[in-house]
Amino acid sequence: MPNEVVLIAAVTVDGFIARHSLEVTSWSKDLRVFKKQTMGYPVIMGHNTDKTLSSYLIGRKKIVVERRDHPKKVLTKIKEKKCFVIGGGKTFYMFSSFLTHLYITPHPHVFGSGVPLFDNPKMKELNLKFLDLIEVDRGNGIFQYQYEVLRP
Ligand SMILES: NC(=O)c1ccc[n+]([C@@H]2O[C@H](COP(=O)([O-])OP(=O)(O)OC[C@H]3O[C@@H](n4cnc5c(N)ncnc54)[C@H](OP(=O)(O)O)[C@@H]3O)[C@@H](O)[C@H]2O)c1
Repeated sequence: MPNEVVLIAAVTVDGFIARHSLEVTSWSKDLRVFKKQTMGYPVIMGHNTDKTLSSYLIGRKKIVVERRDHPKKVLTKIKEKKCFVIGGGKTFYMFSSFLTHLYITPHPHVFGSGVPLFDNPKMKELNLKFLDLIEVDRGNGIFQYQYEVLRP
């Protein structure tokens, strides 16, 4: 079981990660940072996200989950100290009780509707502590906010 289970996502200003479930995320400007941060670590994703990935995630073990998977069992099989949950919204929700960190990169877009970061009405509140701010694309005002998830 990894010590760190990190959600990493590009979001719009109104909190969406995609316009629809099979959108190729071409609007995201943080792919360089995403690659650097996830390199060498297992990456967990849902089936929809797997279908939208345009290139194979070289150097990272890809774990594609289904709705019948139990997140704790998936994590228990991981030997590395850190892993990333890379989407989409249903998968972020599925792993929400086990997340230790959120790496969130807001982008200058408003979609109005689409796939929310945590795609389930039963999503519970998370208590966050700000850790760091990483420059992604200063010219376009894009920065990654890193938070630790505080558990009672
Ligand atoms: N902006 C970003 O950083 C970012 C990152 C990743 C993905 N995305 C986008 O997110 C979108 C995909 O997100 P998504 O939430 O649709 O899919 P997803 O999380 O990629 O995949 C859906 C997963 O949820 C499971 N699932 C669990 N409960 C479910 C339920 N009640 N109904 C349906 N599926 C359920 C499915 O299992 P089964 O296989 O058993 O159906 C499947 O594994 C894509 O457009 C992708 O481009 C954006």
